[in-house]
Amino acid sequence: MSKPMLVCVDDYEKYAREHLNQHSVAYYTCGADEEVSVKENRQAFRRFRIKPRVLRDVSKRDLSTSILGQKIDFPILIGPAGTQCLVHHEGEVAAAKAANAMKTCIVLSTFSTKSLEEVSQAAPNCLRWFQLYIWRPRSIAVNLVRRAEAAGFKALVLTLDMPILGKRRSEWYAGGFQMPPHLHLPHLPKELMGQAKEDARQEYGAPADMVIGASLTWECVEWLKSITSLPIILKGILTPEDALLAVQHQVAGIVVSNHGGRHLDYVQPTIEVLPKIVEVVKGKVEVYMDSGVRTGTDVFKALALGAKAVFVGRPIIYGLAYDGEEGARQVLQILRDEFSLAMALSGCSSVSDIKQEYLMHESQLAKL
Ligand SMILES: Cc1cc2nc3c(=O)[nH]c(=O)nc-3n(C[C@H](O)[C@H](O)[C@H](O)COP(=O)(O)O)c2cc1C
Repeated sequence: MSKPMLVCVDDYEKYAREHLNQHSVAYYTCGADEEVSVKENRQAFRRFRIKPRVLRDVSKRDLSTSILGQKIDFPILIGPAGTQCLVHHEGEVAAAKAANAMKTCIVLSTFSTKSLEEVSQAAPNCLRWFQLYIWRPRSIAVNLVRRAEAAGFKALVLTLDMPILGKRRSEWYAGGFQMPPHLHLPHLPKELMGQAKEDARQEYGAPADMVIGASLTWECVEWLKSITSLPIILKGILTPEDALLAVQHQVAGIVVSNHGGRHLDYVQPTIEVLPKIVEVVKGKVEVYMDSGVRTGTDVFKALALGAKAVFVGRPIIYGLAYDGEEGARQVLQILRDEFSLAMALSGCSSVSDIKQEYLMHESQLAKL
C-alpha cells in the first residue's frame, strides 16, 4: 500500500501515533504531569504574530548560517533524542544521514542506540555534536568525551535540566519505558544495562540520579572545560539568571530548552523566555532554542527573537517512524521550505535580515 502524502510536521506526528506501538507513542510524545508545558510550547509560538514587509526583492534567499563557526545550510539542527532504533532499525544513523543530506548538524544523544563511532562512520561529512550527561563516576563521562573527540564530534552539549526524571503519566499507564532485548545503549556502562526495569520511574534500566547526578552544581561545567578543548554548550537554560552564569563560566553556547516539556510541568515556554535571555547574554555566547518547533514560521519567530538556530526533537522521531532516513530528511526539507517561505513572505532575503521588528506579541494587539 502506498504511503499517504504528508505535507507538514503534524502529519508525520499523526502517522507515527497511528503506526508505533503504545509504549513508543507514550515514550516519544508525552510530557510531564498534566502536559501543560507540552501544549504551551506550541501555544506560545501562536501568540507571536508576524509583521511582513513588502517590496524587498526576495527573489533570492540565503538560509545559511554558522554555528560555532561552522556553516550549515539552514538554521535547524537535529536535537538529541534517545533510543531512535525503537522507531527505525537504523535509528540515529538514519538521522545523521538525513542531517548530512540536508547539510545541517545532528546532536547525538548519550542515550542513542547507535554509537558515536557508528554515526561518524555512516555520516563522516556531517557536522556532529555530542550530547553529554555527567555520570557517576565521572570517569564514564571522561571516556565518552574522549570517544567524541576521536570520532570527530565538534562540540559537547551538556544537558542540565534533568537532575532526576520527571513523571510522565502516559508512560506509567503504558507500563513504563520498555527497551526491546535486541537493542542496547552503547554509551551506557554495561553494569547499569542489566538492571531491573519494573519501576516506571527508571529510564533505560538505570535510576536517573545514578546516570545524571542530582548533586551536580556549576562546578561540573568548570570540570568539563578542564578535561576537553571542545566547545561546550549548556542545554536546558530557562532563566536570564542561569544564562548569565553560563556566560560567566565562558561556555560557547546555550540552548534555551525545557526538554520538550518532558520533565518539569508548568515551566515557561521557551519562545517566551528567549528574548530576555538573548538580551542579558549580549551576544557573548550563541543562543539556540528548542521545544515545540513544528513549522517554518516557528523558526522565523525564534530567529527574530534572537536565536542563532533551533533544534527539533520529536519531529525527527516522527520522520524516522514514517520512513527512516528518507522520512527524517523529508521532515527537515519541509521545515526548511516552510522557513524559506516565511522569509520571502515577510520580506527577508537572509537570516541576518530577520529581526524582532518583524514580530508582535498577541498581548500588544489589544493595545492597538
Ligand atoms: C523521546 C525523547 C528523548 C529525548 N532524549 C534526550 C536526551 O537523551 N538528551 C537530551 O538532552 N534531550 C533529550 N530530549 C529532549 C530534546 O533534545 C529536546 O529538548 C526536545 O525534544 C525539544 O522539544 P520538541 O520535541 O518539541 O522538539 C529528548 C526528547 C524526546 C522527545
